[in-house]
Amino acid sequence: MSSVLEVNDVTKQIKGRTIIDGISFSIPKGEVCGFLGPNGSGKTTMIRMLTGLLAPTKGRIAINGIDMKKNRTEAALKMGAIVESPIFFPYMTGRGNLRNLARLHPNLSIQEQRERIEEVLGIVGLTARADDRVGTYSLGMKQRLGVAQAILGNPDFVILDEPANGLDPMGMRDLRNLILSLREKYNMSFLISSHLLDEIQKVCSQLILIKDGRKVWSGRTVELGGGKLGGNEKGNLEDAFVELMTR
Ligand SMILES: Nc1ncnc2c1ncn2[C@@H]1O[C@H](COP(=O)(O)OP(=O)(O)OP(=O)(O)O)[C@@H](O)[C@H]1O
Ligand SMILES: [Mg+2]
Repeated sequence: MSSVLEVNDVTKQIKGRTIIDGISFSIPKGEVCGFLGPNGSGKTTMIRMLTGLLAPTKGRIAINGIDMKKNRTEAALKMGAIVESPIFFPYMTGRGNLRNLARLHPNLSIQEQRERIEEVLGIVGLTARADDRVGTYSLGMKQRLGVAQAILGNPDFVILDEPANGLDPMGMRDLRNLILSLREKYNMSFLISSHLLDEIQKVCSQLILIKDGRKVWSGRTVELGGGKLGGNEKGNLEDAFVELMTR
């Protein structure tokens, strides 16, 4: 099986309104895929369905070939996510928050949980601050702890909803390097929603663009940024994005 995620003709209606309208796409193993669209276009709604927080009105979602509807628990084991923003207990330490979450992972013994927690703290660069309360963390540290939570269960596939929001240039670079090294070392695949086109262009090999709940473009980042669209020769993702969204 080569796709970590398959989305097949998914529609979501909420209170009679169609929020997601027949979207299909797939993410091959080892790819970092950007999920772009204007405010209110339906990115978070789609991500909620991918993570099992919302059920599609119609269509099929499969993680590593496992159907979300038929076998949600097994499908979710292969996936880690931050939806909108990571959730922590601010009065607990970074390590304490991870311990709390590790207890929910059914496949790890206590000893394995401890080892995995130290491993992910090292991966996201928070070992030195692991005993500080999360309430005292900077935004960048919180995002990295969020990534630590998302990868705790050693997933094949990680979904990040606007992970770079509010980060300074260094924080963005750290996050970018973290994502790329997780892909490189562990062959993790990603779906990342963002409005930061430059960042997306730097990390994502593939893009999916949506507008008003419909898919308007999907393909390789170089194809869109690289000038195949409407004579946009500068390789400028922003121009291509604006052109697609105003069509
Ligand atoms: N539970 C709900 N009830 C009613 N409308 C909803 C609900 N959830 C989402 N919507 C609507 O669906 C549309 C898409 O919202 P969504 O949060 O998915 O967009 P988004 O692409 O993530 O936007 P942003 O870039 O601002 O995060 C919006 O018009 C929103 O108001
Ligand atoms: Mg959103």
